[in-house]
Parts: sequence; C-alpha cells; structure tokens
Amino acid sequence: MSISLLSPIKVKDVLLRNRIVLPPMQTNLATKEGFVTEKLIKHYKKYAPWCGLIIVEHTYVLQNGRVSKQQLGIWSDKHIEGLRKLTEEIHKLNGVIAIQLNHAGARTRKSIINQQPVAPSPIPVEEEVPRELTKEEIKEIVKAFGEAARRAVEAGFDAIEVHGAHGFLLSQFISPLTNKRNDEYGGDIENRIRFPLEVVKEVKRHVKDIPLLYRIGATDLRPGGLTLEDSKFLAQKLVEEGVDILDVSGGLCGSQPPELQNMQGYFVPYAEEIKKTTGTLMIGGGGIKDLLFADKLIREGKIDLVYVGRAQLSDSEWAKRAVEKISVGR
Ligand SMILES: Cc1cc2nc3c(=O)[nH]c(=O)nc-3n(C[C@H](O)[C@H](O)[C@H](O)COP(=O)(O)O)c2cc1C
Repeated sequence: MSISLLSPIKVKDVLLRNRIVLPPMQTNLATKEGFVTEKLIKHYKKYAPWCGLIIVEHTYVLQNGRVSKQQLGIWSDKHIEGLRKLTEEIHKLNGVIAIQLNHAGARTRKSIINQQPVAPSPIPVEEEVPRELTKEEIKEIVKAFGEAARRAVEAGFDAIEVHGAHGFLLSQFISPLTNKRNDEYGGDIENRIRFPLEVVKEVKRHVKDIPLLYRIGATDLRPGGLTLEDSKFLAQKLVEEGVDILDVSGGLCGSQPPELQNMQGYFVPYAEEIKKTTGTLMIGGGGIKDLLFADKLIREGKIDLVYVGRAQLSDSEWAKRAVEKISVGR
C-alpha cells in the first residue's frame, strides 16, 4: 500500500500521526504584551486530536519585530510560562506542536512598535519607509532569534519554525527588491541569504535535536524579484545548516497571491522543484480545500506533508473528516 495523507511520519524523534499540517495563522488572541490567553489555547486544542502537526502562528522575537497589537510574543522569558501551558494542553491530546519565530522588519508600523520600523534597506514593503539596520543591530536580531528558540524549547514545543517568507524581515533580506545593501548582507544571492543563514545557525544551536523547520518564500512573483532558482540555492544551504523540513510558501507576494488563487495546491509545484534539489522533507499547499486532493499529493509523492490553513479555519473538523474518510496506507 502506498503512503497516504494518513500515514505517520517520523522526523528526528518526533512522530507525526499523519501528514496534515495546520500552518501558522495569526489569531490576534494574545494579550497586548504577547502573552498566551485561554482563548488562544482553546483555538489550538480544536486541531490537536486530528492534525499531524500544528504550527503555532508567527511570534515576535523582539518588540520592534511585532506586526499587530495582539500578536503572540516570545521576546522575554516571561512568555515561557503561558507557552508551556499551551504545549501541555496540546500534548494531553497527543498533538504535536511547533512554533513559528518571526521579525516583521518593514512589515509593521510606527503605531504598533512606537519607533520607525527597521529593514535591510530604507525601502517600504507596506506604506512606511523603514530605517536601515546597522550590522550591530543585525547581530542583535540573530541573537534574539536564538533566545526565542531557547524559550520555545523550554516551553515544550516539539519543533521550531523560522519564518523566512511573506515579505517579513528574513524575506526582505533575501529579495533583491528590498535589499539594496552594499555590505556583506546585500548584493548577490550568497550575500542576501547571509542573515537568514545566521539566524538558522543560531536557532539550531539552541534547538539541538528537535526538528527545525523553515518557511521558505519560493518566489516573489514580481519583476526583478526572487526567483525559484534563488530559492533552490537557499534551500540547499538551509539543509546544510540542519533544517529538517522546508515549508513552502511565497516571498514578497505573500501566502495568497491573487494570481494563484484559482487552483488548489498553488505552491506545490514550487515545493516539488525544491525537493528535487534538496531531497529534504517538504510541506506544501496553498488553497487546498478538498481532502482527496490533499491525499493525492501525498500518494503521488509530490510533497511529504500538506498544509491546510483557511479550510481548517472555516471547518475545524476538516482533519477529522479526512481521518474518517481516507484509507490509511503504509
Ligand atoms: C488569518 C491568517 C493568518 C496567517 N498568519 C500566518 C502566520 O502567522 N505565519 C505564516 O507563515 N503564514 C500565515 N498565514 C498564511 C497561511 O499559513 C497559509 O500559508 C495560507 O493561508 C495559504 O494556505 P491556505 O490556502 O491553506 O490557507 C496566515 C493566513 C491566514 C488566513
């Protein structure tokens, strides 16, 4: 029997009961300081008995990397206690839980962070012009990602995901449209991926043996922007740094580019291409609604895990129905 959507998969020492992933999706259910709330725990508990992996929404690793007022935070040791409660509740339901670490860079506003947003170059991603980061500040952000990873491990997360997509800070460094630096962090692709690789190396130092995921923005879908060839190069370097799973989405074009919304699995072809280069485990998806379609992607070996976001937000029993309807396979 072939591998199906319901076949378990082991990544390092972590066993996922099936291949269905709840991708990171910001809930705005945290407190104004970024602490976990009962509502937030309740939200994730709905998915715990059914999904193979829950990836908790992007958390900000530094206060100037925050996107919205009730975003979940991981920028201080005080956040560990609430996050531990969240992981404990998910583990009671035999769920597996990862957390996404992020810094918004230019994709935030002065009204949110009380200072001018920072970025590789003074180029707006949204409306406001950001301030160019100094090299010293870049090193501080790298360290902050490492500290956040340490907190996530202490809080009991089973895996950690670094957010390298959707036009946030890492993605801003990688894209030639938002990175015009003249130092070793800008210029050719090797220089533009230097900061993301430093982040991954620092995070890896803290997560040690737990699975490390990276959300890769496979393309900017913009003239002069990041190409799939660039992403393949980055993907290879990420795997060399010890990334275990690549979670494939978009770069500056975001996770739901309008030009791709008319098909299910719109980032799967990108994931397939990156898989050919790296051979590593891939989470793919985009616009998936139909569980048989998701199952087919796994059976055909296109990707290893499937993310289903909006369809699970509107129907929290999507994965339960999959478990009931699909034959397991081995
Ligand atoms: C409400 C909402 C919040 C999101 N927040 C995040 C996030 O925190 N981090 C992230 O990487 N992607 C985020 N995304 C993108 C999703 O993870 C996913 O990639 C996207 O919705 C496409 O998959 P889907 O068509 O299955 O929903 C968000 C999407 C939605 C709808």
